[in-house]
Amino acid sequence: MKSPLQAGYLEYARLFQHPDLTIGDYRDPMLTFLHQLNEFLGLSSDNPLFTQDLKTLRGKALSTYWAGHCLVDHSRTWKFCQGIIAAVKDKLTEKKKPIKLLYAGCGPFATLALPLTQVFTPDQLQITLLEINPESLSILQKVIQEIEIEAFFPQIVNCDACLWVADQKYDVVVTETMQAALRQEPQVSISLHLMQQFPDDTVLIPAEISITALLERRAQPTLERPLFSLSATGLEAHSGEFVQGEHLIYRDEFDLPPETDLQDVSLDTRIHIYKTWALGHKESGLTMPHYLQRNCREVSHLAFTYTLDENPSWQLQIS
Ligand SMILES: C[S@@+](CC[C@H](N)C(=O)[O-])C[C@H]1O[C@@H](n2cnc3c(N)ncnc32)[C@H](O)[C@@H]1O
Repeated sequence: MKSPLQAGYLEYARLFQHPDLTIGDYRDPMLTFLHQLNEFLGLSSDNPLFTQDLKTLRGKALSTYWAGHCLVDHSRTWKFCQGIIAAVKDKLTEKKKPIKLLYAGCGPFATLALPLTQVFTPDQLQITLLEINPESLSILQKVIQEIEIEAFFPQIVNCDACLWVADQKYDVVVTETMQAALRQEPQVSISLHLMQQFPDDTVLIPAEISITALLERRAQPTLERPLFSLSATGLEAHSGEFVQGEHLIYRDEFDLPPETDLQDVSLDTRIHIYKTWALGHKESGLTMPHYLQRNCREVSHLAFTYTLDENPSWQLQIS
């Protein structure tokens, strides 16, 4: 007999076998499954044990409750899972199974991996999970046991993914440890540290995250300035520079065209997950604009700086 959580999981995960579904089809099942998980695990936002973020050297690690809550960033969860499924299917046509997937910052529900266990078999797919928050990891163990999917997860490691050293190659690396504009959380540091350990044919998901400055002008169309892009080939600066030292720093500065009546400056995040899977402007919490400056007056020069330290952040200087 199936437990209520197992039955809920099967119903939820089976949806992912149908990539053509739209948000109207998956929004409610996602909410239902999140409620089932929280109820089974006794997770609530009232308990400080589950709502305390952790500070790390390269950004904050989201608390157990809020990391779990990411499940209902509906389009994000749907599209990441579909992108990962597509990448694993592609790898299965290219090489000998099982495909090895590394998932860093998996949170309490391994949200981006769970549906894969209804699409693939353990002899097709083996998943290593990394998570820094011990509370999230112990919750995750309960979930995996309860829904009886242990065979997919040979390694579940409590570690800082920015320091972890792999003992094998992986075909696909997944991490979603970010907020809009790559602020606060360690997405960039984790991606860089992990990808430098693997060959060029290891697929990184998301494939590319790019940050563009939107320069909104009074009575004129908005100007766009690509700033920073993170992809499997490393940090690609469209302009600006990187300084690799104690902290990674990106800089870009430029003059505005004459007669620009600049009003607001925001950062737009574009996420290409894999092949046709991407998150559009405002489609997810991850792609909401992040405003750096509003109601500017008489600005002619902008300087953007992105610093990767314990609080990855953007600074804007205007003159
Ligand atoms: C934004 S949550 C996302 C959770 C889940 N991956 C998802 O997509 O729903 C990020 C997770 O990454 C974990 N994390 C953050 N920094 C980490 C690090 N340096 N090493 C391992 N895990 C980390 C956090 O504890 C949190 O569980």
